[in-house]
Amino acid sequence: MAAKIIVLFFCFVTCLLPVCCDVLCQNGFCTEHLKKAANQCRPTAPDCGYNNATRSGLRLPSPTICNCCDYCLPLYGRNDECSLGGPGDGITIGRCGHGLTCSNSTRTCVRMKTPCHDAQDQYDTRFGRNEIGAFERRPFCDEKGKYAAFECVPSQTCFCQSVEGKRLFGEVLYTGPLQNMPCGCSRFNDKVKSLIDRNVPYPVAGPACTGDGNFNPVQCLDNRCFCVNRITGRRTGSEEINLTRQPITRLSCYDKELDLFPQLSEGDPPYNMMTPCYKNIEQKKKIIEGGLRGGFIMDYFNTFDGMECLPDGSTGRIGRLVNGSKICVNERLQRIGTYIADPGTTEYNSMDCKCAVTASLMSSSTSRPICCRNGNFRRIQCHRGLCRCVDSDGRQIGKENRSVRNLDCFREINNDNWQHC
Ligand SMILES: *[C@@H]1O[C@H](CO)[C@@H](O)[C@H](O)[C@H]1NC(C)=O
Ligand SMILES: *[C@@H]1O[C@H](CO)[C@@H](O)[C@H](O)[C@H]1NC(C)=O
Ligand SMILES: *[C@@H]1O[C@H](CO)[C@@H](O)[C@H](O)[C@H]1NC(C)=O
Ligand SMILES: *[C@@H]1O[C@H](CO)[C@@H](O)[C@H](O)[C@H]1NC(C)=O
Ligand SMILES: *[C@@H]1O[C@H](CO)[C@@H](O)[C@H](O)[C@H]1NC(C)=O
Repeated sequence: MAAKIIVLFFCFVTCLLPVCCDVLCQNGFCTEHLKKAANQCRPTAPDCGYNNATRSGLRLPSPTICNCCDYCLPLYGRNDECSLGGPGDGITIGRCGHGLTCSNSTRTCVRMKTPCHDAQDQYDTRFGRNEIGAFERRPFCDEKGKYAAFECVPSQTCFCQSVEGKRLFGEVLYTGPLQNMPCGCSRFNDKVKSLIDRNVPYPVAGPACTGDGNFNPVQCLDNRCFCVNRITGRRTGSEEINLTRQPITRLSCYDKELDLFPQLSEGDPPYNMMTPCYKNIEQKKKIIEGGLRGGFIMDYFNTFDGMECLPDGSTGRIGRLVNGSKICVNERLQRIGTYIADPGTTEYNSMDCKCAVTASLMSSSTSRPICCRNGNFRRIQCHRGLCRCVDSDGRQIGKENRSVRNLDCFREINNDNWQHC
């Protein structure tokens, strides 16, 4: 109990009162502190100084007062000996490196067994057999062996993905092999969605994202809006506005380019940060609540079916014409291209508009993917005389070939009319 209180207090001091510790740990404190023999730093593991293929380490804040000392956690390589006890007290005891784990039976570092590592192994096997296509990429896994935050289709786009490798909201143009996409907001929303109790009657919104999967710099809770870091989502500064009286344009972090519906911040108060999608849900909520007051119960779940908003607050990428046909739309509810699908057709049921969105992101490129009439990826894509099969996200499957007839997916389609879909 006492320990708990101390931990809580410690957190209170360090987490909530940075001012207090800044004062304690201000410039010069460590120099004075380390002068005392009892406080001298112990030698650190040398591994952080090498950082080559066989020896590396992780520099961490040392568990000493004000982090005055350096600390290096050695990371063991594959097949190196390891202990199962964790970092322990020793200064030179480390743990298995990224993607590795200590094996019970051999007490050496072995590769973690995860779906992402399995996917890498599969890729490597196919690479050995010369079966990898020109636009395929070896999956990226993180240090825990989970899928990295994003995946790219080279020369096309990159998109966010979950730790299980499921595609998530957030897509940007491909800029090269060193591209990075943190996707923190997109992943946060995915987590919120998976944690929400299924009995919560109304769709729940997570933090607002931008189209690249990052946090929108302006976040609102109830009617209070403030600024956050676009990558971490953490609040920055103490600025805050009351949406009832002030528009979000007053915030220094407001960026008109990122505001999908700037017209909502114009005119007289009260203002709101509602997108048309949220407004729709709000309206439906009112009707249902009215119904409840009137004594009849409505089926929440069917009512809100397919009404969920995307993490950027937009309605999704499929729109509907008054006559019932589906079309592709962008985040500002503007139609993309002339993609269309009429009710009662298979194209209507399978419509996802993924190709339409990718092609519109690539509007200034000359190597845009070919989309079907309903905005889905055409199964066969050709580039400079070589054709390849792609999945519904436009990722290449298998090796390319000069003749479509040699492609596996052509055999599935088995139709000389493959160019039209
Ligand atoms: C890494 O550095 C260590 C220590 O200097 C050295 O023994 C080892 O051979 C190096 N490994 C490589 C691959 O350079
Ligand atoms: C390793 O040991 C732990 C505890 O003894 C056990 O729960 C776990 O299943 C073991 N793992 C393997 C791969 O043997
Ligand atoms: C915002 O302003 C309105 C109107 O002045 C006020 O009623 C409300 O309490 C304020 N909200 C906050 C969170 O300050
Ligand atoms: C709906 O209207 C669009 C254009 O206005 C048209 O192309 C499409 O065929 C119509 N769909 C149906 C089912 O009539
Ligand atoms: C195309 O496929 C055929 C049959 O599988 C194969 O013999 C040929 O080498 C492939 N050509 C290219 C350019 O990959």
